[in-house]
Amino acid sequence: MRRKNLIVGNWKMNPVSADEAKRIFSKIRKTSFKLKNTDVVICPPFSYISLFSKANKSNFFLGSQNAHHEVSGALTGEVSYSMLYQLGVRYVIVGHSERRKLGENDELINKKVKAIINGGMQAILCIGESTRDINGDYLDFIKNQIYSGLKDVSKKQLSQIIVAYEPIWAIGALQAMNERDIVETSIYIRKVLKDCFGSYFNDVRIIYGGSVDKLNASTILKEGGVSGLLIGRQSLSALDFSEILKSVDTTKQKND
Ligand code: PGA
Repeated sequence: MRRKNLIVGNWKMNPVSADEAKRIFSKIRKTSFKLKNTDVVICPPFSYISLFSKANKSNFFLGSQNAHHEVSGALTGEVSYSMLYQLGVRYVIVGHSERRKLGENDELINKKVKAIINGGMQAILCIGESTRDINGDYLDFIKNQIYSGLKDVSKKQLSQIIVAYEPIWAIGALQAMNERDIVETSIYIRKVLKDCFGSYFNDVRIIYGGSVDKLNASTILKEGGVSGLLIGRQSLSALDFSEILKSVDTTKQKND
C-alpha cells in the first residue's frame, strides 16, 4: 500500500510577529487541501499555537517543537503535552539537535516520547550524528539514539512514531545530504528498528531533515527511501513551502 508523504514544517523561533505567522500559516494550509498524497504538519513556536488551535483538518495538522512529559507542576517555563493536546496539537517534535544542544538527554527524550504517544499524539523523534567518521562509529551513535529514544515503547504504538533522521551537519547548511547516503542510512535505521520490534518495524515512518528545499525535496523523497521531510527554513516561506508540497505530492516514494 502506498504510504502518504509526511511533510513537517519546523518554524523554530520564527517568525517575529503573530501577523506574519498567521499569513504564512493560512497560505500553507490552503495549499495543503489541494494535495492528494501528502499530510502536512506545521510546528510554530508555543506563543502562536493557540492562534491555530482550530486548524486541523483532513491532511493538515498542528504540531509543536517540544513538550514537557508531566501534565502539570512547578516547572517554570515549561508547557505540558496535555496542554498542547487541548490546543489541537497532534504531532510533537522531540529531541531536535538544537534542544539536545541545550541539554536534553536520551532519558528525558524517551520520557517525552512516551508521554506524547500515551497522550494520543504522534512523536517525531529526531536523531542524527554530528559528523561521519570513517570508522563508522556514527552508526552506533544512531542506533543508541533509537534504542534509548524508543525504550519501553510498545509495538502497538509504533504507528505513532516518526523517526526524523537529521544529520546535524546538514541542518541549516548550504546543502542537504546526498540521496545515496540518505537511502543507506534509512535502510540502516529500518534494520535497527527491525532488531528492536520485529515485523512491527514497518509501522514507524522515517523522514529526512536538513537543508531540504524546493529543488531537492522531490528527489530526496523519490530516491532517499524515506516517506517524508522535516523542513526548517523553507517552511517559513509560504511560496517555497507550497512549491515543495506540490512537487512531492506527485512523487512516488522509493519504498512504494
Ligand atoms: P533546515 O532545518 O531545513 O533549515 O536545514 C531543518 C531542521 O532543523 O529541522
